[in-house]
Amino acid sequence: VTGEPDTIVTRLRAAGCVFAEEEAGLLVSSAATGSQLQELVRRRVAGEPLEHLLGWVEFAGLRIGVRPGVFVPRRRSQLLAERAVQLLHDYPAGPAVELCCGSGAISVVLARQFSRLELHATDIEAAAAACARDNLAEHGGAGPASWRVYVGDLYAPLSPDLVGRVAVLIANAPYVPTKSIRLLPPEARLYEPSVTRDGGSDGLAVLRRILADASHWLAPGGHLLVECSPDQAAVLLAEAAQWRLAGQALADDQIGATAVQLWPLNG
Ligand SMILES: C[S@@+](CC[C@H](N)C(=O)[O-])C[C@H]1O[C@@H](n2cnc3c(N)ncnc32)[C@H](O)[C@@H]1O
Repeated sequence: VTGEPDTIVTRLRAAGCVFAEEEAGLLVSSAATGSQLQELVRRRVAGEPLEHLLGWVEFAGLRIGVRPGVFVPRRRSQLLAERAVQLLHDYPAGPAVELCCGSGAISVVLARQFSRLELHATDIEAAAAACARDNLAEHGGAGPASWRVYVGDLYAPLSPDLVGRVAVLIANAPYVPTKSIRLLPPEARLYEPSVTRDGGSDGLAVLRRILADASHWLAPGGHLLVECSPDQAAVLLAEAAQWRLAGQALADDQIGATAVQLWPLNG
């Protein structure tokens, strides 16, 4: 489909798309017919995220499937995936657990890297869990890695068999303070459900619940990795001892990422 590229670029630019030419090229290549292309451009101009229209986003060099209603993985979350890979080199069979998995982008990176990995992922949204299953089936299904995706609140869907055994626990949970949600770009505010973003008054409500139960699930020598803002990292580290955790902040300025790595305090 060639459409009328100049017109498309002009319409996208007028709608505020900063990378209008690149976006036009992607929309043209993903539409099978001229009328499909017109529909995609119409939806993009109306503000739908490009990734939802394309049906994929690039994450850690992989094409991860995304769909309306599912959080679009951000490049900054590659920090969690990269650190989890480093940690799992010592425990290639896991188990690894990803809470709040969304599309499953981080889990996919792990499943591709470790063919013997036992991997469990959970999300409270059925649409996200279905998307994660599809992505793991596509990218992580070739090897013998065993993976399961569950719908439910944080740890609730996990088997008690995992208690005290989890080598690496990962969570890119909602961490935007409620009052800051209105400052997000319209794409995120209008097209990603607020449950994917809203972390309560200081943004840490879900993360605190994750930290509170982490020691119960982690193996001796296991680690928890969570994404947050730099200010929140300082708060979580100051509070960690009350959950019998110690930790350190991680950052990658190139991709604007901050995370906290935590581990159980002895005794
Ligand atoms: C910021 S998104 C991150 C998704 C994915 N981890 C990623 O990096 O692309 C947060 C995810 O947490 C899920 N979520 C929110 N509250 C949850 C809860 N209480 N239990 C499980 N999942 C939850 C949302 O549905 C959403 O998919």
